[in-house]
Formats: sequence, C-alpha cells, structure tokens
Amino acid sequence: MSLPDLAVEALASLDALEADGLSAFTGSGSPAEVEAARVEFLGMKQGRVKTAQERLKALEPSAKRAYGQRFNAVKGSLESAHDAAKARLDRPTLAIADGFDVTRPGTRPKLGHRHPLTQTTDELIDLFGRFGFTVARGPEVEDVHHNFDALNIPPVHPARDPLDNFYLSEGTMLRSQTSTVQIRVMESQPPPIRVIAIGRVYRPDTVDATHSFMFHQIEGLMVDKGVTMADLKTVLRLFARSYLGEDVKIRFRPSFFPFTEPSVEVDMLWHGGDRWVEMGGAGMVDPNVFRAVGYDPDEVTGFAFGLGIERLCMRRHGIDDIRLLYQNEGRFLGQF
Ligand code: PHE
Repeated sequence: MSLPDLAVEALASLDALEADGLSAFTGSGSPAEVEAARVEFLGMKQGRVKTAQERLKALEPSAKRAYGQRFNAVKGSLESAHDAAKARLDRPTLAIADGFDVTRPGTRPKLGHRHPLTQTTDELIDLFGRFGFTVARGPEVEDVHHNFDALNIPPVHPARDPLDNFYLSEGTMLRSQTSTVQIRVMESQPPPIRVIAIGRVYRPDTVDATHSFMFHQIEGLMVDKGVTMADLKTVLRLFARSYLGEDVKIRFRPSFFPFTEPSVEVDMLWHGGDRWVEMGGAGMVDPNVFRAVGYDPDEVTGFAFGLGIERLCMRRHGIDDIRLLYQNEGRFLGQF
C-alpha cells in the first residue's frame, strides 16, 4: 500500500471504530453490558480507542493532522455514548415497566400542626412559667369532695345541682372546674405554692357561640406569706397584656365564690371593642379552704384564679364562635 492509501485506511478504521462503539453502547441492555462495552472500547490498557491512538505514531507527518482530529471526535462521541448508556440504565427500570415511574416526584404527606387551643395552652404555660408558676395536674373524673366540699361549697349550694353537673356513680363526677387541683396541690405539699393547672372541665351548658358542655380552664394558685389582692391584679394584668397585647382592656368586678373572699369576676374587652366578655373568676383564697387542707390562714394568704382558655384563644385570634374550635375543619385550623 502506498502511503496515501495507508492514511485513507486509517481514517476508515476510525469510522468503523465509531460505528461499532456507538452500536455497542446504544445496544446495551444492562449495566454489565455497558461496562463490557466500556472495557472493549474505552479501556485504558487494550481498549480499541487506545489502540487507535497508538496508530497515530506510525503515520506520516502529513496524515497525522487529519487522523488526530478525527480520532478526537470519535473518542469524544464514544465517551458521550458511554455516559448516555450509563444514565439510561442506572435508573431503576423495574417499576416503570409496571406503569409506575418511581423517578416521578412523590405525593407529600399532609403535615398537621398544633391545634390553636394547644398553642394557647403552650403559651400560657410559657408565660406563667416566667412568673414562676409550675404546672400541676388533676383528674377529669373527680370526687365530689374535691369539686365541692373542700372548696367550701356547702351541700345545699345551687352549684351542685344535678342539672348543672355531670355526675357519675359513687360520689364522682366530671369536674366542673379546675379549682379541684388547688385542693390536690395543697393537700400534697406545704406552702409556698405557685402553680397553674390546665385542663378540661364539663358543664351541661347549652352549646352556643360562647358556651360548650366541655371547655378548658387555666387555674392559678399562689400561696405565701403576705400575698395580697394587689398581687392578683398585677399578675392577671401582666398576663393579659402579654398574651392579648399591650392595648387590651380588662376589668375586675366584685363577685362571689365560696372558695375565695373577696372574689372578682375578670372581664376583657372583646375584639371589636363593643362588649365585655368574662375571662374568668378570681379572688383571695378563703380561710376555710386553707383550714380544710391543713394550712394556717393566720400564717399564709393566697390568691386563685380560673380563666377560660377557649375565650382567651378566641380573643387573641378574633374567633367569634367557640364551636369552630371543636369541628376539626382543616380550612379553619390551617389559619393558625
Ligand atoms: N372555679 C371558678 C369557675 O369555674 C373560677 C375561679 C377560680 C374563681 C379560682 C375563683 C378562684 O367559675
């Protein structure tokens, strides 16, 4: 063969190399076949591309340029074909065949969040925690002693009316107030005391926009030497400003509870500013209550309060109907 013939033959061999390589890569049906093709064509030691590269040395200087250019192009195209084959086969194929493509984005599970009442509860625990109050708990199925007797509520008191309470068997009932926890705490430890108790209470009220047969209360109790009504008012005002905003208006009205003396009703100006809504009751712990738990009313004084959590939550968020808090309606709850 003459020298030009050799050069022509060399270029033709590059064409064949490219055609063989491309069909090997595109025809591969598994990662193992791609790997076999890679070794055959692109292998560092005895791959056909490597061999073709060595052939360059034997060529006449005049033929080198054309061969070198064509060689680079072939090498590049086989490398891309190899990458493409790998990408094609590295994807999981099994499920695609069943009409289910696992490479498609999945359906995100719907994540919920804390119910607004739970958010309120958590914030109350946090706020009163900063005033030094710790959390106490008591049972929802309560005995009549803790719900009434120990709270200085006499046997004939109208608050005991079966129409106003959920009585269970044998002197037990669903508690109608969290004041029961005051008694349980004082029975179990000596003063000083600074606790809150949060939980459900039950009363057979007719359900309307501001009433429900079950709602939540936060009870507070502080007992120590020299605790006064001024402390009670300060704590409740500070609390209302922290939770409902600096500009919230609250008022104290004289009232009566058998377990506090004197007693007040605490109101807050409702959102909209056109009416007062009861936030809860409060007062100085009655000496009879202290005596019933073995505290000396000449030694210590204390205040107690009980607030409705639903109403605090409603005032805070501008909710107008308590029933919305119990209906578990996603579009409503999603706003908080
Ligand atoms: N337990 C009272 C109620 O449910 C509220 C209250 C608590 C009043 C503590 C005084 C002291 O209405």
